[in-house]
Amino acid sequence: MNRRDFVTALGAAAAANWSSSTAIAHAAMSPLKQLADHKGLMFGSSLALKYFTQSPAYKQLFISQCDIATPELQMKWNSLSHQPGVYDFASADQLVTFCETNHIKVRGHTLVWHDSLPAWIPGRLSSTTAETIMLDHIHAVAGHFAGKLYSWDVVNEALDPGSQRQDGLRTSPWLQNIGVDYIEKAFRATAAADPHALLIWNENYLEVSNGFGAAKRRAMLAQLDILLEQGVPIHGIGLESHLRGNQANVLGDASYEAFLAELAKRGMKIFITELDIQDVTLPADVSERDQTVADIYKKFLTATLRQSAVKGVIAWGLSDAFTWLSGYAPRKDGLPARPLAFDANCQPKPAYYAIADALETAPRRA
Ligand code: XIL
Repeated sequence: MNRRDFVTALGAAAAANWSSSTAIAHAAMSPLKQLADHKGLMFGSSLALKYFTQSPAYKQLFISQCDIATPELQMKWNSLSHQPGVYDFASADQLVTFCETNHIKVRGHTLVWHDSLPAWIPGRLSSTTAETIMLDHIHAVAGHFAGKLYSWDVVNEALDPGSQRQDGLRTSPWLQNIGVDYIEKAFRATAAADPHALLIWNENYLEVSNGFGAAKRRAMLAQLDILLEQGVPIHGIGLESHLRGNQANVLGDASYEAFLAELAKRGMKIFITELDIQDVTLPADVSERDQTVADIYKKFLTATLRQSAVKGVIAWGLSDAFTWLSGYAPRKDGLPARPLAFDANCQPKPAYYAIADALETAPRRA
């Protein structure tokens, strides 16, 4: 039985309320990290240990599926520090220890972002203070985890074509107070604090093949050329890939693949870093909704994984029980969101099989 027939059979079993469907699902389920590994890829998810207390099954699922993880909150500035210069690394350390114990690599996330800043920051930022505040933060945080992380998202969401700036950069508090070279300074400081981590620029909506996406891609390539020309230590690009169910026709087209090739030409390693699919505009019917979501996963991943500079797929959660989208993009009909590979009971959905299929058809990396 191939995967698609299997899903159909599962659906029939569920419809007949066949109690052993769960056991069958497990029997046919190859861990995504294993399918990825066969192709020289990594597979993982965002991680928050609090979900494991709520669901031990989720903990088992996480360990079985992932060989890389991104802390969902614990390394963000507003999680680490509530007062200037005072840091509490306890929960982030706990997360790193959990990952070490379970042979899961950790992606540090994130050092310089306009979002998730502690309440004290806005009042203190000025053109005379901002650079020191940013560099001290990088020194403290990247220094604390030095040698323990696979990578750092040094700069997060630095582009905003809506800013009306020629260079497409977001007018973030960092840009406003430090200037455009805050990006260069952040990368250099992170390299000095943790010479072993891969240094990543993580960005959203690069994959959308409309005018907005195209503007982002152009702006990123132009910035990359400047940074690389100046010898800035930047090693990779994160494609957040928060996809939307109603954008199926504009995801992962030829101009997007050409962009990935341009990144590869510049020596960038590429990671899908926050993959999920908003189902807020999709029909209520669960099987129809799940199928549309699965089709988008398949289309997007197939296009992206064709590029061998893509080294890993990290989802923004594994089970629909624990998705940020239930708060960020709730459905108007009040039905629970179904954006991820596994349902609220940690059972595989059509999305899981779509991801598995895309990994199995991906070319092998060296
Ligand atoms: C989100 C978390 O999932 C939420 O729990 C939190 O409230 C806000 O941040 N881009 C990013 C991630 O880089 O850090 C964000 O994570 C989602 C968008």
